Amino acid sequence: MKASPHDSAVLHVSGEARYTDDIPLPADTLHAAFGVSPVAHGHLRGMDLEAVCAAAGVVAVLTAADIPGANNYGGVVADDPILAEQTLTHVGQPLFLVAAHTRTAARRAAQQAKLDIQEFPALLDIRSALAAESFVIPSKRLARGDPELELERSPQRLSGTVIMGGQDHFYLEGQVAVALPQEDGAMLLHSSTQHPSEVQHVVAHALGVASHAVTVICRRMGGGFGGKESQPALLAAAAAVMARHTGRPVKLRLDRDADMISTGKRHDFLADYEVGFDEDGRIRALKVMLASRCGHSADLSGPVNDRAVCHLDNAYYLGHVDIVSHRCRTHTVSNTAFRGFGGPQGMMVIEHIIDDIARSLGRDALDVRRVNLYGVGERNVTPYGQTVEDNILPELIEQLVHDSDYASRRAEIAAWNAQQPVIKRGLALTPVKFGISFTKTAFNQAGALLHVYRDGSVLLNHGGTEMGQGLHTKMVAVVARELGLPLTAVRITATDTSKVPNTSATAASSGSDLNGMAAQAAARTLRERLIGFVRERYGIDLYAGDFAEGRVRLGDRSILFAELVEQAYQARISLSATGFYRTPKIHWDMNRLEGRPFYYFAYGAAVVEVAVDVLTGESRLLAVDILHDVGSSLNPAIDLGQIEGGFLQGVGWLTSEELCWSRDGALRTHSPSTYKIPTATDWPEEARVRLFQRPNPEGTIYRSKAVGEPPLMLAIAALHAIRDAVAATSAGAGRPRLMAPATPEAVLWATSR
Ligand code: MTE
Ligand code: MOS
Repeated sequence: MKASPHDSAVLHVSGEARYTDDIPLPADTLHAAFGVSPVAHGHLRGMDLEAVCAAAGVVAVLTAADIPGANNYGGVVADDPILAEQTLTHVGQPLFLVAAHTRTAARRAAQQAKLDIQEFPALLDIRSALAAESFVIPSKRLARGDPELELERSPQRLSGTVIMGGQDHFYLEGQVAVALPQEDGAMLLHSSTQHPSEVQHVVAHALGVASHAVTVICRRMGGGFGGKESQPALLAAAAAVMARHTGRPVKLRLDRDADMISTGKRHDFLADYEVGFDEDGRIRALKVMLASRCGHSADLSGPVNDRAVCHLDNAYYLGHVDIVSHRCRTHTVSNTAFRGFGGPQGMMVIEHIIDDIARSLGRDALDVRRVNLYGVGERNVTPYGQTVEDNILPELIEQLVHDSDYASRRAEIAAWNAQQPVIKRGLALTPVKFGISFTKTAFNQAGALLHVYRDGSVLLNHGGTEMGQGLHTKMVAVVARELGLPLTAVRITATDTSKVPNTSATAASSGSDLNGMAAQAAARTLRERLIGFVRERYGIDLYAGDFAEGRVRLGDRSILFAELVEQAYQARISLSATGFYRTPKIHWDMNRLEGRPFYYFAYGAAVVEVAVDVLTGESRLLAVDILHDVGSSLNPAIDLGQIEGGFLQGVGWLTSEELCWSRDGALRTHSPSTYKIPTATDWPEEARVRLFQRPNPEGTIYRSKAVGEPPLMLAIAALHAIRDAVAATSAGAGRPRLMAPATPEAVLWATSR
């Protein structure tokens, strides 16, 4: 498929793209704000809300008792109150909701509550939660072979700990919802959400009405990154309850600080490991205790941690392995989906171990990576039993090693580091193998709705949501290709639960895989109808190729697609169709962590070179070379954007974005003044980003591969390049004491004695 610009590119850059906050509101709209818990753990003995009610502009104040239906927005486990009742479990937890004439009035009033709280000691970090055996859901284990025995037999052994921080989503558009009461008890919601169907479901339960009474619409998000999978339901449900209570439209938008304080993030993880290996660095046995900070409730922590376990192998064959995964409950916000969904954290563990092995053997980590790659025969079965069928990584890596001039740069850097005491340089190559599909098999389905109007223009709706990743652009291209139309003939409207029902979240990078096939099915149904009509009317058998460039070939002449459509309309042929798709081949036993959870894998590799200033600890990306597998790309321009954006977002996670909590559990880094995301100026001057285009052997839409999440994990190369530079200092020699994020402080600590 050809490169084409994002369908909203012009609207994005001109400021005309309409986000939820831009939707014109009815004159009587109220603005809402949460009053939140100031403590991490406690018992709410009482709330005196008199001053809140009396504050200027306030129209209504609601507490948990005012919710007509279920006080829960937890999608997997019902343990997430919309408004807390008596038990307070994190700082920033919503306790009550104020509605006022203006947003400022609502936010000011929310500060006026007098709370009577009995405070309890709080569990804030992973180690304390492990010690207290405080878990949100039971621990799981994935084991194969006899790791205990193989460890004994291994010529070399190492043990250590890997620590990595969490990450705030920092979408440019924060969480926001607008609830508009309709007639007869119905509710219409505009929600910035990756998961309109879950918002619909949660709102219906909170209001105590049937799902058919709730409609959720989202045209686009200003970024989601996983942060708008489960959490938008909180805002939507709160706004809907207030709208029901007052009979007026209600808008609820968090400001940046409130968004960062009150909503969940990427899980931080730690891992204690023990590894046995041979003189070449080939891993013979591995034991890992993996633990994550889930926060106060389950949210998506189960599947996030499952994915971490299933990506701990990354690109490497682990014959004898034992991974225990603990999902720690702490008195902090409930951590949630974030690009990669636990995969990045799992991969970080094995890449760290490989780096440790290489440094203990005095070898280049690339060589240790090479000998451990999935291979052939039994060396290509993952610990969870899925065979790595299209194992293209060895080839992809060698191509990247060649194209990036890895070997000569390695020598050049060694020479530089031998000379230069202050600026140390580092180089690393890390691969990515990422499984595509929701591990929950049922989510791997999608629907589409296609209308053709009498002028030949086409309107498409599908279950996916647009968050900047270009899903709609790709879907338009699929329909245009199936019907032989220019891109401009096809338009996508907002995702809408009343058009395509029971959708899955746009997540797991599967948006275009799933909705692309559903849209294609709808377009083909329509095309078949038109072909049937032509056969009847003209006695001509048409083929797909007869639909091209907005025209339809009829024997030796051709007519406009629009003309054929009008004829079909006159003949009373239906010009509206639905399409449906479910992913084949996958199956998964989520308790035993066994099966084929992924339809296929997406691969990639990155070579990153950095410079580190050992006097300040600052680091800078000097060059990046990326080769990333997208199958046959649906849109090379969009895919490059996803690869570059994903990579840099990963660099932020691993180098500059640091979440700090005070000892009482309050987030200290809740705005851009204290939380540093990467910007355009962090992009290296030398960047060579290339697509590895080879058709997906599995039957995906036009043999493409998903691209949304995998490139984030290419950033692990940046962290390891910094480690490599640190290892060139005398204090960092051996196994550097550098974990993620590798902030200047962390680097300085690792390079000083
Ligand atoms: N790209 C942009 N610009 N904005 C986003 O919010 N989210 C990422 C990725 N790329 C995101 C993005 C995440 S977490 C996922 S799962 C995928 O896009 C979802 O979209 P897809 O399935 O259509 O790739
Ligand atoms: Mo992406 S973390 O699966 O929304």
